Amino acid sequence: MSVGVLVPAAGRGVRLGGGPAKALRLLAGEPLLVHAVRGLRAAPSVGPVVVAAPAADVELARDLLADYDVTVVPGGAERQESVALALAALPPDADLVLVHDAARCLTPASVVEAVVVALRAGAEAVVPVLPVVDTVKRVDGDRVVATVDRSALRAVQTPQGFRRDVLAAAHADPGPAPGRGPRWQAATDDAGLVEALGRPVVTVPGSEEAFKVTRPLDLLLAEAVLRAR
Ligand code: CTP
Ligand code: MG
Repeated sequence: MSVGVLVPAAGRGVRLGGGPAKALRLLAGEPLLVHAVRGLRAAPSVGPVVVAAPAADVELARDLLADYDVTVVPGGAERQESVALALAALPPDADLVLVHDAARCLTPASVVEAVVVALRAGAEAVVPVLPVVDTVKRVDGDRVVATVDRSALRAVQTPQGFRRDVLAAAHADPGPAPGRGPRWQAATDDAGLVEALGRPVVTVPGSEEAFKVTRPLDLLLAEAVLRAR
């Protein structure tokens, strides 16, 4: 079964604070997007890769990724839209699909392979997870309402893996654009859409190095991880 990867990379990176789109921000002299795609290519199971780039930077992304045999398409205004646009450009023979945030640019190949192994063993949808290390509280404004039992909580990473028909069904727009449907709006990841369909999602161990570059401190952490490798 061929494994395709969709790489949503079209976000602005507002929480990183202005400047170029996040996927084009430099990390040790190279754009995050290049680190992310190089990491995917280090995973032996990965076949066709489709990147959803910021619409204004599609040509630049193609140039940057010229050595990595990827298709680059313009992304959309929301992450789910970028994923849907990339899925539409994935060759039809890829029957297993991973969705991997460009912002998780240092994800080890071992995590990618673990997701693929679970899919090949028959899972319909797979997410890499880590235990939650902080104490988590539910609040109402500034008042604490409850302390959540974190032993049953997991923080979710990417790549998330899917049987292609399951991902396609999950992405089928349940409502008219531009409002979209409630499922589309509520989901913050692709597995969330699959859960909303009532389909099973399983977990595999994630990696601390698969953290998402979101805020300025994350760029410093990423530089440190690269130095340590
Ligand atoms: N993404 C995308 N298209 C969008 C929004 C996000 O392809 N319209 C991608 C980002 O490029 C990133 C991944 O989805 O690789 C995870 O999103 P996030 O970390 O939120 O990145 P940004 O949306 O760029 O950051 P921010 O929310 O701070 O603006
Ligand atoms: Mg975002």
